[in-house]
Amino acid sequence: MTAQTSRLILIVAAFVAGLLLCLSVILLVAQHGSLPLPQASAVGGPFKLVDQDGRSVTEQDVKGKPFLVFFGFTHCPDVCPTALFDISEVFRKLGPDADRAAALFITVDPERDTPEAMKSYLSSFDPPLRGLTGDAAAVDGVVKAYRAYAKKVPNPDGSYTMDHTALVYLMDKEGRFIAPFNLKRRPEDSAADLRRYF
Ligand code: NI
Repeated sequence: MTAQTSRLILIVAAFVAGLLLCLSVILLVAQHGSLPLPQASAVGGPFKLVDQDGRSVTEQDVKGKPFLVFFGFTHCPDVCPTALFDISEVFRKLGPDADRAAALFITVDPERDTPEAMKSYLSSFDPPLRGLTGDAAAVDGVVKAYRAYAKKVPNPDGSYTMDHTALVYLMDKEGRFIAPFNLKRRPEDSAADLRRYF
C-alpha cells in the first residue's frame, strides 16, 4: 500500500465516521421529537382521589409497585374499554404476581363518573383495576401532573363526550414515569415487560 492510498483510506474512513455521527445525532433528535412527553421526570406526582369502593387513594398506596395509569371515562365508546380489557389481560397473565403491580384508571369525567358509576363499569373487568375519581379540582390536578389532556366536547343532542389522552403510563415503584406502556403486543409480553420493574 502506498502512502497515498493509505491517506486516501484514512480520509474516506474519517468521512464515513463523520457521516455516521451525523446520522446518529439526527436519529436521536428525531426520536426525541416524536416522544409524546417532554420530560420524563416531570410526569406524575402526588394525588388524592377516591376509588370505586369509596376509599381514599394517594400515590402512597401504589408505592413499592410498578403501576400503570390510564385516563378515560366510563361513557367512552371504544378506546377506554379496549385499553382496560388489554390491561386486565396483562394482569391475568401476571397470575399470582398480579398484586405486585397496580393499574389505575383515572376518570377525566368526574361529573358522571362517581365511585358508584366506576364500580359498576369496572365490574366487567378484572379486579386489579382501580377506578379513581374525585372532585373536579383533584382530577384536574392529576391530569396536569401527568401532562395529559382532557376536554369536554358537546354532542348535538345536548350530551357530551370527552377527548382525552389515550396513553398508558408505566410508572416505577417510586412513582416515576418510565415510558408509555405498549399494549399492542401479546399480553404475556406486556406482562413480562411489567415484571422487569417489580
Ligand atoms: Ni376513552
